[in-house]
Amino acid sequence: MAQKTTAKTASKTSTNTIHLHPKRIRSGVPGFDELVGGGVPEGNLLVVTGDPGSGKTNFCYRFLYGGANDYEEPGVYISLEESEPEIIKEAAYYGYDFSTLIQQRKLLIETVSLYDFDKLKNTIEEAVERIKAKRLVIDPGVVFRLFFERELEARKTILILGKMLKRINVTTIITNELSLDKISSLFGLEEFVADGVILLYHTKLENRFIRSIGVLKMRGTKISEKLHPIEIGANGLRVLSKQELFEEL
Ligand SMILES: Nc1ncnc2c1ncn2[C@@H]1O[C@H](COP(=O)(O)OP(=O)(O)OP(=O)(O)O)[C@@H](O)[C@H]1O
Ligand SMILES: [Mg+2]
Repeated sequence: MAQKTTAKTASKTSTNTIHLHPKRIRSGVPGFDELVGGGVPEGNLLVVTGDPGSGKTNFCYRFLYGGANDYEEPGVYISLEESEPEIIKEAAYYGYDFSTLIQQRKLLIETVSLYDFDKLKNTIEEAVERIKAKRLVIDPGVVFRLFFERELEARKTILILGKMLKRINVTTIITNELSLDKISSLFGLEEFVADGVILLYHTKLENRFIRSIGVLKMRGTKISEKLHPIEIGANGLRVLSKQELFEEL
């Protein structure tokens, strides 16, 4: 499943141009890096937002699997809903062998409740430290802010979390559930704190549903302005190439 190209742009980066050319990492999602200038800037906080069942969890699996298996970047998966065995089982269904990665200390799965924010923060820090993780996923299954009674509290919490993640220097994805046809009014706080926002759509086109992906923002990066079709199949999620798009439509 490894991709052919490697993150060469990063090694060319000189100290003079470091701000112009942030070190980029390979997302691990086939076809995605081309939409964001060759890869995700290292240490960025990304929010993957989308309709229910649009592929958010799948995107995260691919990101962690690619990191751990292909790019020597161990990863931590923080679930707010599912247990470790459930996640291992679901990932296996897409062909990702998470058990082996866990045994090799390249992957750690933790289930934490967001109600205890201090515990969540500590769990993240400890897990990242334990396996020297470079990637982190927080896959809530609900909108983050719904956990907090007051807007101000939610805002404060997200900012604290964002700062902590920068300090421990992991590239992070937080998922967020939104119905994207109501997009403008419904953005969560996560999207405003994030360095990058990725949108996943599962929308009706005439008599069928189509899946697509778009990048709303990615700091320091020229992004594709288009929506790109995606496929979720036996090998998980991938962004289709232009050529495949012609064959498809
Ligand atoms: N082998 C497969 N072939 C095609 N589609 C599949 C396959 N396996 C799963 N899917 C689709 O992928 C979707 C699951 O994607 P995923 O769990 O990543 O979405 P999500 O956005 O995280 O969903 P949720 O909102 O429930 O968290 C399923 O609803 C299913 O339609
Ligand atoms: Mg999910």
